[in-house]
Amino acid sequence: MNTRSPAECPAWAKLVQHAESWRSVHLRELFAADAARARQLVAEAPGVRYDYSRQRLGAMTLRLLAHLAAERGFTEWREALLSGSEINSTEKRAAWHTALRAGDSAPPEVKETLARMQHLVARVRSRNAFTRVVNLGTGGSDLGPRLLADALGDGKLEVRFAANVDPRDLGRALEGADPASTLIVVVSKTFTTQETMANAHAAKEWGARTFYAVSANVQAAKAFGAAEVLPMWDWVGGRFSLWSAVGFAAACAMGFDGFQEFLTGGNEIDRHFAEAPLEKNVPALMALIGVWNTNFLNAPTHAVLAYTNALRLLPMYLQQLEMESNGKRVDREGRFVDYATAPILWGGEGTVSQHSFHQLLHQGTHVAPADFIDVAEDRVLSAHLRAQADALAHGTGDDKLPPHKQYPGNRPSSVLYVDKTSPRNLGRLIALYEHKVFTQGVLWNINSFDQFGVELGKELARKILTGEK
Ligand code: F6P
Repeated sequence: MNTRSPAECPAWAKLVQHAESWRSVHLRELFAADAARARQLVAEAPGVRYDYSRQRLGAMTLRLLAHLAAERGFTEWREALLSGSEINSTEKRAAWHTALRAGDSAPPEVKETLARMQHLVARVRSRNAFTRVVNLGTGGSDLGPRLLADALGDGKLEVRFAANVDPRDLGRALEGADPASTLIVVVSKTFTTQETMANAHAAKEWGARTFYAVSANVQAAKAFGAAEVLPMWDWVGGRFSLWSAVGFAAACAMGFDGFQEFLTGGNEIDRHFAEAPLEKNVPALMALIGVWNTNFLNAPTHAVLAYTNALRLLPMYLQQLEMESNGKRVDREGRFVDYATAPILWGGEGTVSQHSFHQLLHQGTHVAPADFIDVAEDRVLSAHLRAQADALAHGTGDDKLPPHKQYPGNRPSSVLYVDKTSPRNLGRLIALYEHKVFTQGVLWNINSFDQFGVELGKELARKILTGEK
């Protein structure tokens, strides 16, 4: 594999030069000059259409980005990811989350765990033994199942989440609940995370009687008194774990069939990622375009705007996925990098966001490339989304207007279209972003699968709390 810095790859230097020629090009002119642009700069993955025609790029840009991917050894890295090789080099582990959704080809322990999950979810949902399920976890042990439950919960069972060490969070999750009929699911890969353990002990003090756990530290979970312990494995990173038993609370919220559909959606994207040629490979294109915006057009942030209330938590979920994975300044060879890595990811729920921060998107001094998510269920939402993307791309183009009424345009965005909010589509969307993140890690030559940057704060807080010097 290529150990050279990406910035030393021949394609990188060409992209720097190429970006110069794009400084004076406006998206308005590109659409005017090429009637086919909106049709041609589109790629399809199962159930998802990716329209990148409003990005500031052309055929040559994509060619050079593809050269960069080849020079970075993208094909070999992809093979290493999908075959479960030890690509998390600092922790000497695989990052084999794709095995969790591999259906019949999944490892036996994955199939066994899914079967146990299916049985337990059916029990929890059908027996009326529980009136509430409360998931205690944080980071990857919270954000994924929380997103799924919020987007896809069918209301049959009340499922809540507490992640913060602030007791108010647990207080809210337990408000009005009966300790005798509340199932507490403690989700922690390590079973040592302070926030989660504090909440688990507080739930015990509150009087909860039934605890399940999801953990790689089965012994500690049993010692805590969990009646059922579903395993996690060290070859799945926390932020990639919602496909495992970490999704238990989500499966309780939507039913196990829905959870299976979610896995199927993820698996369809894995196959697309493995097989589609680069120029038609949606997650790879998302990654290449992100690198173009970050490293060559110098955009420091990336916005995700989901035009459906069901996906209001998606930006928060993606913040951990993208920023904990690729917010790194050291490359795989242990060198400090001299190029930008993950942009700051932010976003919100359209149309609510339009009345909040879109002012900056349209007329601010920072240009923030955006992904719009269009769930074609609602004409009004889709119309607003299209209007925003067009206004950002084209602007007003009328310099006779007073300056404060002018829209500069030329602000890049992409649109991801799915036909409805469904478990399968959510599996597809999340897997697309996972592979985007992985591909960007390859392009930036960083290990996307560790997270040492979170440790110092934990250690200092412990010392402050115990008074240790
Ligand atoms: O502190 C960051 C982190 O380690 C995340 O990577 C992880 O998802 C989260 O904490 C929770 O960890 P655990 O599942 O071990 O409690």
